[in-house]
Order: sequence, then C-alpha cells, then structure tokens
Amino acid sequence: MTRRKGLVIAMDGPAGVGKSTVGGLVAKSLGYKFINTGEMYRALTWKALEDGLDLNDNEAVLLLAKSLDWEFKPVDDAGTTLKTFINGTGVTQQIREERVSVNSSLVAGNPGVRRFLSKLQRDLGEGGSIVMEGRDITTNVFPDADVKIYLDASPEERADRRYRQLKAAGQEADRDKILAAILKRDLNDLKREINPLKQAPDALVIDSTKLTMHQVADKILRRIRKGAKANGRGK
Ligand code: DC
Repeated sequence: MTRRKGLVIAMDGPAGVGKSTVGGLVAKSLGYKFINTGEMYRALTWKALEDGLDLNDNEAVLLLAKSLDWEFKPVDDAGTTLKTFINGTGVTQQIREERVSVNSSLVAGNPGVRRFLSKLQRDLGEGGSIVMEGRDITTNVFPDADVKIYLDASPEERADRRYRQLKAAGQEADRDKILAAILKRDLNDLKREINPLKQAPDALVIDSTKLTMHQVADKILRRIRKGAKANGRGK
C-alpha cells in the first residue's frame, strides 16, 4: 500500500447538504486538497449529452469515459479545490446546467462508469492530504479512509437553504419544486443498485439541520485533532 503523507478524509451525504462548502473549509484549514466527486459524474453526463449519446447505453457511455483525458487541477488562489477538466477544458459552468442535473443519476447508475470513476478517485486520493466528498467515498472508494463523515440535514432544511441561495442571487425560485427535486435525488441516490448512498458504520454522523457550515467544519476539525493525538498522526 502507498505510504500516505496526510490523512484521507472521506465525506458522504445527500444532495444539497453542504458537503462542498464544509469540505472546502476543512481542506483549507488543514492545507489539504478538496474534491467534489459529483463533478466527475456531471462532467461525463455533460459530454455524453453534447455528443448526443443515449445515456441508457451503458457501453457507449463507458467507452466515452475511457476515451477522455481527465485532469483535476486547482483554480482558486489557495490551490485547495481541484476542478475537473476533460480533454483540456474546464467544465465547471457547463456541469451546473439543468439538463446535467436531471440526467446525472442515469450516468451514476452505470456500473462500469462507477468502477472507472472510483479508480480515478482512488488514484487522486491515495497520496493522502485530501478531503473527498460524494455518495460512496466512505463505503466504496475509501473504505479505509482515516476520517469518515456522513453529513445529513432534513430535506426541508436543504430545500430552504437552496431557496435562500437562489433568492440571494436574485434568481427566481419555487420552494415546493426545489423540495420535490431534492426528494427525487435522494431516492435515486438511496435506491441505486450499485454503491448507493448509505452511512458507513464507522462514520461520524453530523446532522447539520441546525448548524452553520462553519460549525460543522469546526466539529470535523476537532474530531480530526482528537484522532491525530490518539494515534500520533496529523500535522
Ligand atoms: O453531488 P452532485 O449532486 O453534484 O452529484 C451528481 C450526480 O452524481 C448525482 O446523481 C449523484 C452522483 N454521485 C455519485 O453517484 N457518487 C458520487 N461519489 C458522487 C456523485
């Protein structure tokens, strides 16, 4: 096994729970890298749609995944957050399109694609000093992660947060529609046959319904410092 320089911090949880915000805060505070693995499923969904592929054609979508040149590079000044590039193009904007959000669960249900992307994720994280978030990081990608977090919040709270975000950005928002979309995404993630969203038995479960993102990040950092003292690791 590769000797890791720092910890692998794996984080899972449902859509819209704040994993990226919290993961970014934790990574920045530790001087680690952060990656949101949902971006990889979204990037492939976007490219498959652009190429006019049938997303139900598992073979074709897997072939596309294997044909792409995947890179993960920081774009922020601190160099913390790794962003997905395919064939040399950053796809941060494109992968937030509605058609991608709606169709990404089809690609995420493709067993070959999951194996392929899980391997990319393991390669990225094997050196350590990384916070990685998604749906199956604690259970499938890094079942041996040094720290496992399951971040949760009620669907209503997640819908409210999204509603407030959109309003604050001056955009139209319908709270009931947002809640319905969140419930649908939860169902897709929980009912998926391969690598569904579930709590790892040894994960620290944090319900963020009544907490700010900074409070959640502090909780995680406290746990990491406690663990680092106990086993003599950490920085
Ligand atoms: O986190 P997100 O909603 O941007 O993720 C996009 C899609 O990818 C969504 O359908 C969930 C799926 N996903 C997954 O199956 N496994 C992961 N590790 C990350 C995301």
